[in-house]
Amino acid sequence: MKKNNIIKMLMLALSVSIFVPIWGTFHAYIGINNAWVAFVSAAVFFAAGHNIREVVKVSLSHILGMFWGLAVLYIIDASLLNINVILYMFIVLAIFGFASVLITNIGISLVSHTPSLFAGWAVAFAVFDGMPISEWKGSCLDVGLALVIGVWFVGVGISQFQMLLIKVLKIDDEDTELAENRNEQENILHKNSKSKAESKLDLYIASYSKPNENSQQETTNADIDEIKSGIADLKHTILDTQQFANNLHSQQSINDVKVKILGICGSPHKNGSTINYLKRALAAAEEMGNVEVELIELAGKDIKPCLGCKSDKCGGTCRINDYMQELYPKLRECDGMILASPSYFGTFTGQLKLFLDRLRVMRHSNFELGNKVVGTLAVAGRRHGGQEITNIDLIQSMMRHNTIIVNDGTAVCQLGATGWSHTFDDPTIKSEDDDYGMQTAVGVGKRVAEIAKVIKGSGLQNVTYQYNQKIGKR
Ligand SMILES: Cc1cc2nc3c(=O)[nH]c(=O)nc-3n(C[C@H](O)[C@H](O)[C@H](O)COP(=O)(O)O)c2cc1C
Repeated sequence: MKKNNIIKMLMLALSVSIFVPIWGTFHAYIGINNAWVAFVSAAVFFAAGHNIREVVKVSLSHILGMFWGLAVLYIIDASLLNINVILYMFIVLAIFGFASVLITNIGISLVSHTPSLFAGWAVAFAVFDGMPISEWKGSCLDVGLALVIGVWFVGVGISQFQMLLIKVLKIDDEDTELAENRNEQENILHKNSKSKAESKLDLYIASYSKPNENSQQETTNADIDEIKSGIADLKHTILDTQQFANNLHSQQSINDVKVKILGICGSPHKNGSTINYLKRALAAAEEMGNVEVELIELAGKDIKPCLGCKSDKCGGTCRINDYMQELYPKLRECDGMILASPSYFGTFTGQLKLFLDRLRVMRHSNFELGNKVVGTLAVAGRRHGGQEITNIDLIQSMMRHNTIIVNDGTAVCQLGATGWSHTFDDPTIKSEDDDYGMQTAVGVGKRVAEIAKVIKGSGLQNVTYQYNQKIGKR
């Protein structure tokens, strides 16, 4: 459990330990005998996520539920139909049960909280069943008050007190902050949209849609100005709404979206420097949270050259049975990948070329890699040993898959990660000492994860494209 969550839990425990005994000890002094009822309604409020905005709805639903239960008891007691008692009860309960869901879900939005209605109903059965109808009136107030107090004092009181403690202790509570931020933005929006643009536009619509007695009357400049200002207000409201939606989306989903990133190392050396940079990039991606990473080394793996099957024969499953068959499902499942290669004469290695060519089958299967995020990483023996061109070669190859190519993000915003293994300059210098190169690797890792989350969060990763081999044919 995170430290903040432990503190939040302790604050809740403290709040409960204050509010519950106050109610449990003093309820009799305000004339409430059925103290337990309050705990039932507070429990329902808590179980429903103790949403303060729902509190009126929840309270009213409890009361409605109580009367609902009384009505059922009354009708059962009255035995209006001359049939078997059990059958009669069954029919009454069936009708009321069915209607309770309809009534709380259709039309009456103010009291549409089904769990609270059921709780009120259950309480009515527990308290009033077997009690003479003449005594109902006296107990109604007692039970009704307890139901409402349960929600407001025990329910709202506890959660508000807990929030207060969290604020006083200045706990960095992401959820609370997010909720408050959202409330604030909703209020601003609501205010803007209702008071300004919407009410103004309502006025315009009302005045301009009314049949005008002087239909000949010409529109004056003042009218036009007024309409322009209305449209400007409306535009702002729309922009605010868009901004609001964007903020909500990015704040909520970026952290929560789970993505999988593959790191594919094209170096023939298992313990070379390329893999070091790649490990750093994957670690940075993982640090973003909710990111699963997997390192795939092509070194020593059996990847045969592409046979260049005719286009219409390439698709679905590649007919070559080698290590690529293990990789295809992983590639299909992942949300992003980092391709890493040493620079060999200014381009990527043969291992990667074999791998990249064999991806054609995925391209021909309606772009199975479409909208996956790709970052690149190149390591050369010299300071300027072709890292950037190696990255470009990787990029241009992956572009043919409708993938989304990213750079090294905010690190330095260049063409992918560029490592320097010092192979020829000074073999005693290790890749770990290459601060700049490592920074770019971190940048690529983060950027791939970030954009993969954005794409996945937006649902765009599911887009499928139709591969059209006829394009360009005469
Ligand atoms: C065939 C070959 C070609 C190479 N070409 C270059 C080059 O053009 N420029 C350069 O700086 N390093 C070049 N190198 C060095 C590698 O890029 C360098 O050793 C690399 O960082 C090794 O990565 P690794 O440790 O992951 O194998 C070459 C190495 C080989 C084997």
